[in-house]
Order: sequence, then C-alpha cells, then structure tokens
Amino acid sequence: ANAEGIVELDAGIMDGTRHRAGAVTGLRGVKHAISVARLVLEKTTHTTIGGIGLQEFARNMGFHPEQLLTPNSLKKWMEWKADPHHKTYWVSPENHDTIGMVATDGKGHIAAGCSTSGMAWKIPGRVADSPLVGCGYYADDNAGGASATGDGDLMTNYCTSVTIVHMMARGASPQEACEELLRNMVKTDTRNRESEAAVIAMNTRGEVGAASMNSKMHLPYGLWNNGKSQLRESTNVY
Ligand code: GLY
Repeated sequence: ANAEGIVELDAGIMDGTRHRAGAVTGLRGVKHAISVARLVLEKTTHTTIGGIGLQEFARNMGFHPEQLLTPNSLKKWMEWKADPHHKTYWVSPENHDTIGMVATDGKGHIAAGCSTSGMAWKIPGRVADSPLVGCGYYADDNAGGASATGDGDLMTNYCTSVTIVHMMARGASPQEACEELLRNMVKTDTRNRESEAAVIAMNTRGEVGAASMNSKMHLPYGLWNNGKSQLRESTNVY
C-alpha cells in the first residue's frame, strides 16, 4: 500500500517481435495489473497509461474495482501510520515486492514483463522502474529480454533491462550481462553495493542468467522449459 493505505499497482509487458510495450502505473482496485498492461499493448496505440484515465480504461475493459488491501496489509499500514518515527519515502527506501518474467517460444520470439505493488508506504503517484519500458522490463527479438526487481527508484536511473539486452546484442551471455549491469551500478556509486537490486535475462537461444547485487536480496527464480520446471537461485555479485 502507499502512504495513504491504498494499493497502487504497476505493470508492463513487451513483445520483442513487434517491439511494442504496454504498461500501467498507479493502478487501483484491479488485481491483475499485467492484464490491463497487455490491453494497453493490444488495444491502443499508447505505451503507458496512469492516473484517472487508467482507472477509466480498466473499467472500460471490463475490470470491476475491488478492495486489494488485505486485512494483514491494512494492519501493517495502520501500525506504520501510528508510529511517530515511521520512515517515509522523502528520504528512505525499503520494502518492495516485484515479479519479473522473460519468455521465448523457441523460435526466437521474446517477451518480457513485470508486475508489482511497488515500495510499501510510497508517496502516492510514485512511478518507478516496473511500468517503464527499458527499466523494469525490455524485449527485443534481435537479442533477448530482461526484467529487474529491487529498489525501483534506484534501478530506474540505470535503465536496467534495456542495458542488459543491449549487452546481449553485443555478444554477452545473459549471465554476463546481468552481472555487468550490477557492477556498473557500483562503478558509478559504491553505495549501490549495499542496495537491493536483482535482474534476470534470457537470450533468443533460451539461455538464461540471473544476478543479485548482494546477499540482502535473495532472488529465487523459476525456469520452465518443455513442461519441466526448476527453482534456481541468482548469483550474488558482491
Ligand atoms: N521494483 C519495484 C519498485 O520499486 O517499485
């Protein structure tokens, strides 16, 4: 939930064949934000929709508003609100929750996406990496796809997913590209070594990579291939 106790979801999806993305930001009252993002991609010529217009768009697409704040989240928000020393996002990042996906059909077509409720207690209206094409997700049939999770305010400044895909286009393996992106973040600012950041990538041959900045952000990921699934762990760069 955001600082007002309202759940605001962000999601984005990209089709690497058409090189087209669809995304939503600050979506309220609709659980499957990625489905609304997909409708932005499929039904409109826009890429990202937010604000009051997004609520209207979701309703027009047949989504009925529902309460997304669970009793447990409501309790946590009330505790946070009641604490006179609570941390706020004017100064301090923590608590986020993102899922990222990259897929190929085995014929060189790539898609990527991600979905999140963003940082807990965020300032209402905050837009971070997840709904931004090239940041939270990116797909290009010429190279592969990537998705990012972690402190989205930080990640946005590194255009994480497009950077990884461009590294793969120049010959890096998905694993090398994920690790190099995180190392580059530390090169520009050594404090990033302590940050929460993790990325996944897949190239057009279906090779995968995943890396986390450090052991603070544990990134388990599922690999599904021809009906078989495996749970794997990303490598920690620091
Ligand atoms: N990476 C998700 C967020 O910070 O909103």
